[in-house]
Formats: sequence, C-alpha cells, structure tokens
Amino acid sequence: MTTLDVAWESRAQALADELEARGDLTDPAWKAAIAATPRHVLVPEAHEQDATGEWHPLDLTSPSGLDRVYSATTLVTALADRGTHREGISSSTKPDLMVRMLESLDVHDGHRVLEIGTGTGYNAALLAHRLGDERVFSVDLDAELVDPARDRLASIGRHPTLVTRDGAGGLPEHAPYDRIIATCSVPAVPVAWRDQLADGGLLLVDVKVGTGAGNLVLLRRDGDRLSGRFTDRWAAFMTMRHPHERLRAQCAPAGQDGRTRTTTAPPNPWERDRVVWFLAHLTGLPSGVRPGVRFDPDTRRPTAGTVTAPDGSHALVALEPTREGTWSVTESGPTPLWRAVERAHHLWREAGEPDWPRLGMTVTPDDQQVWIDDPHGEHRWRLP
Ligand SMILES: C[S@@+](CC[C@H](N)C(=O)[O-])C[C@H]1O[C@@H](n2cnc3c(N)ncnc32)[C@H](O)[C@@H]1O
Repeated sequence: MTTLDVAWESRAQALADELEARGDLTDPAWKAAIAATPRHVLVPEAHEQDATGEWHPLDLTSPSGLDRVYSATTLVTALADRGTHREGISSSTKPDLMVRMLESLDVHDGHRVLEIGTGTGYNAALLAHRLGDERVFSVDLDAELVDPARDRLASIGRHPTLVTRDGAGGLPEHAPYDRIIATCSVPAVPVAWRDQLADGGLLLVDVKVGTGAGNLVLLRRDGDRLSGRFTDRWAAFMTMRHPHERLRAQCAPAGQDGRTRTTTAPPNPWERDRVVWFLAHLTGLPSGVRPGVRFDPDTRRPTAGTVTAPDGSHALVALEPTREGTWSVTESGPTPLWRAVERAHHLWREAGEPDWPRLGMTVTPDDQQVWIDDPHGEHRWRLP
C-alpha cells in the first residue's frame, strides 16, 4: 500500500525547482501544485519496456524508485494484451510536459476545466490544487483506471469529478468549460469538445493524423469555429482508444520487387523533420502507414528508415548519405510511398522550412484544416 508516510515532500519540491530551472515552469501557482502533489500515491506502480520489447514492473518504492517518480519521466501504468505483445494504454505523462501544457492553457482562478484522459489522476490533482475540486472534471475510457484514480485522489484529499466515459463525447452534463485539455491524441478534433467549450475558451489537444504525424495545437473557440497554432515543442500522447475497437491489421511488406533510386528528402522525417512527416500525411501518404527502422543483423546498428502501408507498399531509405549528399531509396508495392514524403519535403523547403508555430488549424462546422501562416493562404489542407 502506497502511503504519504515516505519522504516525498522534499522530492516533490526538488522536482518543482528543477522544472522551474529548466524553464518548463514559470507560474508560481503551478509550481506550488507540483510541490504539493504526492505523485507516488497516484502512480504506485509502473512498467518499463526492455530492448526486446518485453515489459517489466518497476520498483517505485525504493529510494531510487521514488527519485524516478519525482523526475521528469513518463511512467507507463497500464498495459493491454494484444495477443502477440503487450502495449501501454495508460501512463502518467512526464511532469515537464504536463506543466508546459498547463501553462500554455492559460488557466485562471475560477476557470472550469475538462480533462480527457484521467489516467493516474496526477494531472487532475494538479488542476484541483490550482482551481479547487469543484472546477475540475476528468474522463477516461476504463473504470479500471477511473475508479482507482478517484480513490487515490480522495486519499490525498482531492475530489475532482471523474467519470468513466469515451472522452470523444466530452462531458456535456457539466459543460460549458473554460478550458479543455486532452492527454490522448486524436486524428481530428471531436465536435463535442467545441460545443462544450465556452466562447473564447481554449482547447489543447495532440492532433496526430498518423504515427508521429502531428503535434499539440492550442485552439480558441470563436462562435462555431476553433482556430489556433501548433505549439513550438513537439509532444506525442497515446492515441485515443474507443470501446470495442478492432486492432488494425499489421502491415505486411509486399514482395521484393524494389525500385531503387536516390532522393534528396532526408530519411526518418518522423524523427528529424516532423513537420515534413505531418505534411506528407496531409498531402498524399495513405492512412495507416507505419514508420520503422531496419538494423544491420551483425552490428545491430540502424541502417535504414522504413515506411510500410496497409496495401503492402514499402519504402526503405538508407540512413547513410551518398557522397553527393543524397540518400538511396528503394520502393516496392503499388504505392510509391517516398514520393509523398519528397513532395512534402519540397513544399516545406519552398515555404521556408516552417517549424510548428507557423502551422495552425481551423475547425469549422464543415471541415478541419491545417495551414501554414495564414488560414486563408495557399498552404492549407483538409485533415485526411
Ligand atoms: C497519457 S494517459 C493520461 C495521463 C493522465 N492525464 C495523468 O495525469 O496520469 C492517456 C489516457 O487517455 C485515456 N484514453 C484513451 N482513449 C480515451 C477515450 N476514448 N476517452 C477517454 N480517455 C481515453 C487512456 O486510457 C489513458 O489513461
């Protein structure tokens, strides 16, 4: 049983100091919330994945375990069995990201906030410390997550409203909210969130149209539309799940009929040029593509980035550049996947290599569009 009877206050204070020193935290109210919240009570257990993909329980009760709890680390707290493997389905988001998000949400005294994705309840605890229990609402999909989170929050004297619910529908019975924060990613903004946001209210959500393809966007409601910019730092949240959803079949690469050529678009845009990867999804990559990596069987060093589509199409791009500063790419299957990345890379270069804050998003009753610089300019695309 995790208790308050451990030396956590100094660790929580040290975490708050560290987040402030790193520049993640500037608002004294959030600093006080971090220092006053016993994360070890809300995160009594967690799991870690080893190099082979196996999950192992972490010992969070030892002094080094507690140090880890009170550090800027994400802790995976719930796993689901996927037949061939286990997958993390809930976590306590790393506190540095959490406070950056809370600060950019521009929360003020008296605000009512809805969180999508209760998880451990840690973020709900920070919100409840800042605003008071009666102004904090949080939903998660599984009672197995929500009920223990409610109990743990109660054990530290916090009683926000927690509801087991598919967060895609928001929580209409307590709307309107001044702020909505989603801690799971969505391929498009659910209309219910706009409807439940007060006019002028802010919504912070991770929009991901494919694996790693997107970022956090801060949207303001103005009448029946939402609009705003992506945040400068990239973040990736667990994807929103839905009740009874079926697993997407794993992509199987097509045969070895590869066509090899050179490319000027650098490999692994999902790691190095994430805006390019996002634009590629908006401008032509088929949905459901998966990025990957190929290793040398002898040295186990990564040698190529791979992209695989549900139709079996495959692209393999060498990580080592040629002497001319290009890269070798081999495409196979019916869809020339790397062409879409090359087009996106070209477009990004032409637009002056924009970083995330130059990108924005507008949600209207008719559609959801991503744009560069200007919502009405030449560079805008509907979400796929
Ligand atoms: C990164 S965790 C949340 C972290 C949490 N805010 C915390 O402080 O511990 C993402 C959460 O989103 C939840 N989630 C996924 N799909 C959801 C859905 N459809 N509705 C509500 N929550 C969902 C997951 O169950 C998971 O707990």
